[in-house]
Amino acid sequence: MLSKLLPKFLASIIGEMYGRRRWQLVGLLVILIVNAIAEFANFGLFFILVRLLSADLGGDQATAMPVGKIEATLMELTPLNLSLLFIAILTVASGIRLFTYWASAQFSYRLSYDFGTRAYSRFLHQNLAWHKNTHSGDIIAILTKAQVLSHALVLPILQGLTAAITAMGAIAFLLSVSLVPTLVLALIYLLSYLAIALLVRPALRRNSMKVKLAHASRVRSGQEAAASIRDVILGGLQGHFTEKYRVYDADYRDGQSNSLVLTGMPRFLLESIGIGSLIALTLYFFQRDDGLANVLPILAALGLGAQRLLPLAQQIYASWATVSANREIASEVLEAARRPAQLSSKRSVASLPFEKSIELENVSFSYSDTLSPVLDNVNLTFDRSSTIGVVGQTGGGKSTLIDIVMGLMTPTQGRMLIDGYALRDSEDIRRWQANISHVPQEIVLIDASIAENIAFGTNRDRIDMAKMADCITMAELDAFVATLPNGAETRVGERGAQLSGGQRQRVGLARAFYSSAPVMVLDEATSALDTTTETKIMHRIAHVSEDMTVFIIAHRLSTLKSCDIIYEIGEGKLTRFETEAYLSRPEASLT
Ligand SMILES: Nc1ncnc2c1ncn2[C@@H]1O[C@H](COP(=O)(O)OP(=O)(O)O)[C@@H](O)[C@H]1O
Ligand SMILES: [Mg+2]
Repeated sequence: MLSKLLPKFLASIIGEMYGRRRWQLVGLLVILIVNAIAEFANFGLFFILVRLLSADLGGDQATAMPVGKIEATLMELTPLNLSLLFIAILTVASGIRLFTYWASAQFSYRLSYDFGTRAYSRFLHQNLAWHKNTHSGDIIAILTKAQVLSHALVLPILQGLTAAITAMGAIAFLLSVSLVPTLVLALIYLLSYLAIALLVRPALRRNSMKVKLAHASRVRSGQEAAASIRDVILGGLQGHFTEKYRVYDADYRDGQSNSLVLTGMPRFLLESIGIGSLIALTLYFFQRDDGLANVLPILAALGLGAQRLLPLAQQIYASWATVSANREIASEVLEAARRPAQLSSKRSVASLPFEKSIELENVSFSYSDTLSPVLDNVNLTFDRSSTIGVVGQTGGGKSTLIDIVMGLMTPTQGRMLIDGYALRDSEDIRRWQANISHVPQEIVLIDASIAENIAFGTNRDRIDMAKMADCITMAELDAFVATLPNGAETRVGERGAQLSGGQRQRVGLARAFYSSAPVMVLDEATSALDTTTETKIMHRIAHVSEDMTVFIIAHRLSTLKSCDIIYEIGEGKLTRFETEAYLSRPEASLT
């Protein structure tokens, strides 16, 4: 029954912990045991003190109860000294408890940080296909959920354990003093809590699922509304979006408050049961008529015990309930942290030697079995020192082709060879990617300075300013940067919102230039530029790219002038055109 009450995934947390954390956990458990011993000593001293005092009432304690060696020694102390000793031990015990409290908090928050950071890193190590199928809102939600591991999983478990071990210390002592009444008292508590736990378990599970789903949906809707704020304002859709958010938020808060009530509730029910059973015991002892002096210490010990045990039992139950109420979220975070990395991410890998060609061999690709293939058994070779135009209708598969060439998507069938070497694994792909710079169709900037966006992923103090200036010039950004208050140090806002589409594109181009990779991919990278600016930039690219491989995806024919060869993609096939021939087709004059 107990194993059914405990979530299985607890074992997997320990399995996933870093070695250091495991040792810390062992250390913590040792402190918990020390805690219990201190608790035991506390009880013992208190009991002896009461016995010593009640001896004056004329009780015959020496014969009424067996006296241990330590007990005998202690009973020789004066009541005053014994009281002082009692207070001293109590103080030490409180100190230990404080330390346990601190150590538990430290441990659990560090664990959250371990798992949260690992989940973040694992997200970044998933391939593009995975990211295309995963809502970024869900990713952010999981990262914020990582904190649940501390305050709703590890900390409660540790507090529960502390309470359980402490309770054991107290119970062990009480059993040695008064076997049957202690057993009766403990059983009443245990059974009451077990009954409540079984009753509320389904509700806690439901809340757990509710909170998990609502949490992610809240983040999603926040993100989506912010991202399409223009359309929200224009359509007067604030109410519509608020209502959607309200529903999720209500679910989320309901789930949380319900769980909170279910967690705290038994305390109120059991207070009366606890006191009731204590009164029953008192009546029982007095009716036995063993003499006040003999009964008083036992009753005092039981009273103190009950008063100590009730909160401890409540703590154990509350820990279990809190964990149950958050198990779905916790499992999600654990799963994210455990998700195997699909990609290699070595930054300073030796790039794959690339002198001659990129070859696609029998390459097919479809996004799913039910969709028609974007590439259908394609065979072709791109020469290293060439500029390749890729054209075709929107949705024809240009970006997909390029994603495959860049190793971002894996062909469903066939393979890619670089200088005749077939890429086999993520390490190979990583080494191939070290050759590539890419200007995507929709460039998203980071909220940092223009310079940091251009030298993407380079720390500020390591930016090569001379090279930066060249790249700014190449991307026709000189005049724009000159108008900015802080020049290239000016921040661009979230996603580059403070720049125009064309300015963002040029920052993207400058980023590609800065990386000085031998393969450059421009995916509709100049679509937002006026023709004069575009022509200037394309000229510069043609000038510096003699020994480079440049892929240009474009709709505007003027963009393609510098291409050596043009491929048209459509219905899974690629058709090869000489540039001259392609640009002078009769239908070309229409575009
Ligand atoms: N993640 C995806 N899942 C399913 N289909 C997709 C996905 N991404 C793109 N597609 C489909 O693949 C086709 C090619 O898309 P894409 O390569 O982006 O075209 P292009 O860049 O030529 O406009 C389109 O029909 C598009 O709808
Ligand atoms: Mg595209």
